[in-house]
Amino acid sequence: MNDASNIPASEAPRPATARAGSPLSGTMAVPGDKSISHRALMLGALGVGTTRVEGLLEGEDIHATAGALRAMGVPVTREALGRWHVEGVGVAGLSAPDDVIDLGNSGTSARLLCGLLAGHGFAAILTGDDSLRKRPMNRVIEPLTRMGARFETRPGGRMPVTVTGTDTPLPIEYELPVPSAQVKSAVLLAGLHAPGRTTVIEPVATRDHTERMLSHMGAEIEITDSPAGKRITITGQPELSPTSIVVPSDPSSAAFPAVAACIVPGSEVVLRGIGMNPARIGVFTSLGEMGADITYENERDEGGEPVTDMIIRAGALTGITVPAGRAPSMIDEYPVLAMAAACAEGITVFEGVGELRVKESDRLAAIEAGLTACGVTVEAEENRVTIHGCGGPPPGGARIAANLDHRIAMSYLVLGLAARNPVEIDDIRPVETSFPGFAESMRALGAQITEGGDS
Ligand code: S3P
Repeated sequence: MNDASNIPASEAPRPATARAGSPLSGTMAVPGDKSISHRALMLGALGVGTTRVEGLLEGEDIHATAGALRAMGVPVTREALGRWHVEGVGVAGLSAPDDVIDLGNSGTSARLLCGLLAGHGFAAILTGDDSLRKRPMNRVIEPLTRMGARFETRPGGRMPVTVTGTDTPLPIEYELPVPSAQVKSAVLLAGLHAPGRTTVIEPVATRDHTERMLSHMGAEIEITDSPAGKRITITGQPELSPTSIVVPSDPSSAAFPAVAACIVPGSEVVLRGIGMNPARIGVFTSLGEMGADITYENERDEGGEPVTDMIIRAGALTGITVPAGRAPSMIDEYPVLAMAAACAEGITVFEGVGELRVKESDRLAAIEAGLTACGVTVEAEENRVTIHGCGGPPPGGARIAANLDHRIAMSYLVLGLAARNPVEIDDIRPVETSFPGFAESMRALGAQITEGGDS
């Protein structure tokens, strides 16, 4: 039984079932990028004047960020689908919220807001749903404490967290102990408020949307290579210029219809305007190595981010080893790639994937338990997964617990479209965090996804 604290008790879990049917075909409009959407609202809030956003993801996670900013005095307005504007209050211009801020399922909102709040001399309390309240916050608390902010949490650095920031944060130099764009961004956002230069060193590159957007808004960002890794330095207390932001379609969301098109025989699916930031596209590199038939067309630049159209056709896949160094560029895509691996010929190994244990759910456990229930042989170790591909459709015929994890829910629905027997998930509601209308969009391609638990 799912008892997410941010979902009203009256709203019952909604099971959904995917089953094999005809090939998938057509063009799907993939929603806006979740990472870029969060940053568009947060950085827009720190500009002086109006930032206009096109293509904003209207998922629950982004509504959580919008709600938090409104609670701190920032007018955030929806004009039409995907078209929003933010009346920026300037760097250090947020005001103290008069209630607890509930961020639902959104780890990105929580970590990045801790960075923003570290540079404001007031206290705020952040909480979230059952999933978010289990996730580690010490990874941001540690550097932000060095910058002068104070934090009180439940044991183990778990939320709810009270953040007491300072009007005069200290600039620091910080080497990331885990490759995390959220931690990097939290330190850079706190550094935005500090007098002087704050540097983050990342031994392994992570998504760089924060740096790109900050420099687009006129902040002084310096990026250099060093023996320890990439050094990103921000000069604090700039005046950020409001801007127009066009949000590309999310490559992480595109991975679901892309894998579905690969594994449902006879399929051909077109996805347009997909973000191709090099720090985000490891899943497509991996699918290519597995032999997937993906054509990229019309590669272009939109609003400072590379985008492309993709045509994906079904075909035989072969198992591969995904190296640890690729993990940051596909950290959210392992669950759906695991579904492709289950259908591939031969063995697929994911190396260096320990971070998957601290996502919206323990995703290594979810891959192991779910695929095993679907008749696939899987071994999950602390930091590595081995999947023995079925060389075609796996047996399926299982009911999977989504555990408040949107990507686990969508991954098993994708598998159900290819499996020999239907695959049911216990609750489809979490997909609204990142991919509103996922089931409808898939059905428009011909996918057999029904809601109501009829398998
Ligand atoms: C995100 C970074 C990643 C990713 C998350 C979004 C971001 O998390 O898993 O969905 O927008 O910065 P980590 O920074 O924890 O790897």
